[in-house]
Amino acid sequence: LSWTSSEIREQPLVLERILRENPAQAKECARQIKDRGVRYVLIAARGTSDHAAVYAKYLLGSKLRLPVALAAPSLYTFYGTPPLTGPDALVVGLSQSGASEDIIAVVRHARSQGALTLAITNEPTSELANAASLVLPCLAGPERGVAATKTYTAELACVALLCASVAQESGLFAELAALPEAMDQALQTEQAAAQVAAQYCRALLAVCLGRGYNLATAYEIALKIKELAYIHAQGYSTADFMHGPLACVEPGLPVIAVAMSGALRDDVAASLSRVGQRGGQLIIISDDEAILQSAHASLPVPKVPEWLSPITAVVPGQWLAVHLALAKGLDPDRPRALTKVTVTR
Ligand code: F6R
Repeated sequence: LSWTSSEIREQPLVLERILRENPAQAKECARQIKDRGVRYVLIAARGTSDHAAVYAKYLLGSKLRLPVALAAPSLYTFYGTPPLTGPDALVVGLSQSGASEDIIAVVRHARSQGALTLAITNEPTSELANAASLVLPCLAGPERGVAATKTYTAELACVALLCASVAQESGLFAELAALPEAMDQALQTEQAAAQVAAQYCRALLAVCLGRGYNLATAYEIALKIKELAYIHAQGYSTADFMHGPLACVEPGLPVIAVAMSGALRDDVAASLSRVGQRGGQLIIISDDEAILQSAHASLPVPKVPEWLSPITAVVPGQWLAVHLALAKGLDPDRPRALTKVTVTR
């Protein structure tokens, strides 16, 4: 068993740990966010963590009605023209390692400008954590696989807990509490994902689609597939896909689609049917029986509230990436050219 596979399996435990050990810190972050009268959020993140930031953009936007922007770190580190943030900004460094210089630079600059700063990181003694005034630890434990799996869902869960703490709605906490069990069920998609992998492991290209909360999931699955199976998988919003990339669909192109029930269900289903008409092979991750029936290959996940669905919906994609690697004779723990910690400036 690879480290990556065991780390995927650890995810329900990590979620339990976050829900058990993080509420006090999340509450303190929420208190400061409210005391400051935060009106907008800027998030700096790279790679997988950047996908967690995309999730945060939708979640804080919908539940807290806060505009969220993703930072452009080179404005801080190369151009020397960092956008000015004031005291009503929350600036978040979202990073598993807490080591990337560009992410640290964004947080440092924002703090010097008087913004409230928060590090969400799996390394609570990292330089990033030191640079920020608040820290929310991801509590995922050491991750040995190069590909981020449990640290990704831990980041999502920390963002979700923070959001529930600011909103202070008991319903949101109850929904969060049910998450570890749903995660357990999502893990059971391994066999189905392995079958899909056996069928598609010779593909050179793939597309991953999702929208709304699950745009992050589409991006993240695409990255896992690129990094572990060396298949050029590109993630798109289903809406953006209709604005041009649809023309690239040739018969047989594997299209991995995240189509969860909720506000976007019908819209995503309609886009997928156009992709299907162009001959795309639909590999669908969904909690909706009817949508799954329209798939060439289906990866059913448990029903959870839409705002939490990215945490469970990514799991079949993680399995798919691992099994595509195995089917190609690759070692999922050691993708070529990559190291565990990547530092960029
Ligand atoms: C992809 C992966 C990388 C990391 C990225 C994160 O599976 O593992 O994309 O997510 O290097 O950097 P930090 O440590 O800043 O989160």
